[in-house]
Amino acid sequence: MQSKNINIAVDGFSSCGKSTIAKGLARQLGYTYIDSGAMYRSVALFAIRNGWITDSEMDEEHLRQHIGDIRITFKTNSHGEQETYLNGENVEREIRTLDAANGASRVSTLGFVRKALVAQQQVLGKEKGVVMDGRDIGTVVFPDAELKLFLTASPEVRAQRRFDEMKARGENPSFDDVLTNVKERDQRDTTRVESPLRKADDALELDNSHIGIEEQLQWALGMFNKITTENEQD
Ligand code: DC
Repeated sequence: MQSKNINIAVDGFSSCGKSTIAKGLARQLGYTYIDSGAMYRSVALFAIRNGWITDSEMDEEHLRQHIGDIRITFKTNSHGEQETYLNGENVEREIRTLDAANGASRVSTLGFVRKALVAQQQVLGKEKGVVMDGRDIGTVVFPDAELKLFLTASPEVRAQRRFDEMKARGENPSFDDVLTNVKERDQRDTTRVESPLRKADDALELDNSHIGIEEQLQWALGMFNKITTENEQD
């Protein structure tokens, strides 16, 4: 018997491997994967391009006036990978830079940005069958998600992962810069007033500093099977 679709929230610190697990789960279950961080990164890119974010300042008022002009969509490319579009333009590469990551961490502190993106995310999850990763998915976006995972790993392990990803893309970052960036973002993500990163009370926590991807995925699928079996028996 085909079990009813559920929503799955995957939250945690930056570079914790959330997207790897979330994409793996979506692939195995035939669910839709949604990268909520890509949405914050796209808002940041829009603001950077308009000159509203500089090293020292952020022009909140202009961003507030134009937040309704930002349309973010996702499309799957010919390799089966999901790519992010900002007002119809493929921005997948541009939103993965350190500048966009820093900008995303800053715009994500703004209540009106979060409100606009959370509303879009909730629409995407209305029909269920969604795996969404982010920081507030289990606490704010889908507080009723049937399965909530919360991933953690040490800052050094996470910086190494991001460093390797950037190298693989042909960038030449310094490890110290990447580590500093990871720590700064942790600080901002956990201390911001609006929806700070925190584990939902009913989320299952996994420290994956020393656990391989396949093992994590098997663990997550095991949790999925347990929950969906329990739901059927209710
Ligand atoms: O997961 P990521 O590194 O792509 O996220 C980029 C930034 O966006 C990160 O600093 C935190 C923020 N973010 C958020 O506040 N809420 C989310 N649901 C997803 C990301």
